[in-house]
Amino acid sequence: MADDGHPRGRLAGRLIGLGVTGSIAAYKAVDLVRRLQDQGADVVVLLTPSAARFVGPLTFAAISRHPVEGDVLALLPDGRIGHIVIADSVDALVVAPATAHWLGAMANGLSGDSVTAACLATTAPVVVAPAMDGDMYAHPATQANVRRLRDDFGYALVEPESGPLASGQQGIGRLAESGRIVDAVVAALAGRPIREPRSERRPPTVAPVRDPDLAGRRIVITGGGTREPIDTVRFIGNRSSGKMAVALAEAALDRGAAVTLVAANTTVSLPDGATIRQVETTGQLRAAVLEALTGPGDEAGPDALIMAAAVADFTPTRPSAGKLTRGERVILELSPTPDILAEAARIARGLDAAGEPTRQALRPVPVLVGFAAEAGSLDRAPGKLVRKQVDLIVGNDITAPGSGFGTDTNRVVIFDASGGQEALPLLAKREVADRILDRVARLLGERDATDVDGDAATRQTVGPTHEGQP
Ligand SMILES: Cc1cc2nc3c(=O)[nH]c(=O)nc-3n(C[C@H](O)[C@H](O)[C@H](O)COP(=O)(O)O)c2cc1C
Repeated sequence: MADDGHPRGRLAGRLIGLGVTGSIAAYKAVDLVRRLQDQGADVVVLLTPSAARFVGPLTFAAISRHPVEGDVLALLPDGRIGHIVIADSVDALVVAPATAHWLGAMANGLSGDSVTAACLATTAPVVVAPAMDGDMYAHPATQANVRRLRDDFGYALVEPESGPLASGQQGIGRLAESGRIVDAVVAALAGRPIREPRSERRPPTVAPVRDPDLAGRRIVITGGGTREPIDTVRFIGNRSSGKMAVALAEAALDRGAAVTLVAANTTVSLPDGATIRQVETTGQLRAAVLEALTGPGDEAGPDALIMAAAVADFTPTRPSAGKLTRGERVILELSPTPDILAEAARIARGLDAAGEPTRQALRPVPVLVGFAAEAGSLDRAPGKLVRKQVDLIVGNDITAPGSGFGTDTNRVVIFDASGGQEALPLLAKREVADRILDRVARLLGERDATDVDGDAATRQTVGPTHEGQP
């Protein structure tokens, strides 16, 4: 992994479709997935029905983190046609191992399985690595099919190797070593741009099954983007969809937490299991966060607060009570909004605006996580962590491909209070959510271990401050 958080490798950022057919060498495709991933590729696997009898789809789904495309007649859950989605989004298709039967089907354009169908439908380069008994490979029919794929279709052939075969024979027919196949993929892609960076056009991902390691924890998450009124109908807003917060909420629920989601103008459906607080403005979001933080009455506050909402930095100083009409020139004066995360951190730690102890801290102090959406460099993120006195800042460059508002993926760097930083590759937002929650779970465990009083029910509740209330 590079320091800048971008995965390194000869296939960094690439999506590779791996077609596996019904050869005894199908098990070697598992290693090939890993070798492609080692080079930074995201791999989606297609199986012929025969291949699925050699190696189960579960194995490939678990290691590739994508549902396996094994039934040419089945649709994806969202209604898209799987082999077409793969054909249209992959940077390259690799068929390894390719059986004699599959070579014949492909040479004749017979799209009876997902692998041939995707190869027919794609304009991406195709790399084919045959594997079979030596006599099968030497047969004129097989050789004619290989020639047709190579010479007429322009496919890159990775010739099989010589050695002992499953049939008991010695001869040419062993699947080429994974390294040779990876080299052929790299060579086929030389000089080509990433074909489909938009995650929503790529194949879906599968979420891993997690332990309920947040059972009994209460987590407050903010998401979406606030809107600051200019007049009764207009507002200043931002493009945040709430996808990252929803991914965090769903992941926390799956791990057993009780979740409150403070949702500001989100454009995605919200998880059923969460308590939802709908807000519109920064002022409303602040009120909802401070109420959730301190808990009404005797109720204990949350174990963690994760501020993923895109909160307006400015609000119109004097919003118009009516609807502004066309004609007059309007000068909009903007005032800064309060820094809700910093304020929440001060309350949690019992500090005043100058950072001096002023009252008892919440006990235990909730884990505080902020997001820093930056356009370009993340240099400012560690400073934000120190200034706001939070445990983690998740920095993301919203201008990077596949990152930021409205996308299904994100590329983030997690900064922690001990000065460490963890740069994650481009991941599905759900995966990013789980990585963040891994950190939260760890911090909660450490906090429990050091909390000598250890009784969350006795934690202090402190009323919200009112400085800067818009
Ligand atoms: C144990 C076993 C191993 C096989 N290995 C190969 C092989 O390495 N190469 C091959 O071309 N066919 C092999 N076959 C035959 C294929 O599985 C068969 O032709 C099948 O129809 C291929 O289907 P597909 O090309 O749609 O995946 C094997 C069959 C069996 C029973």
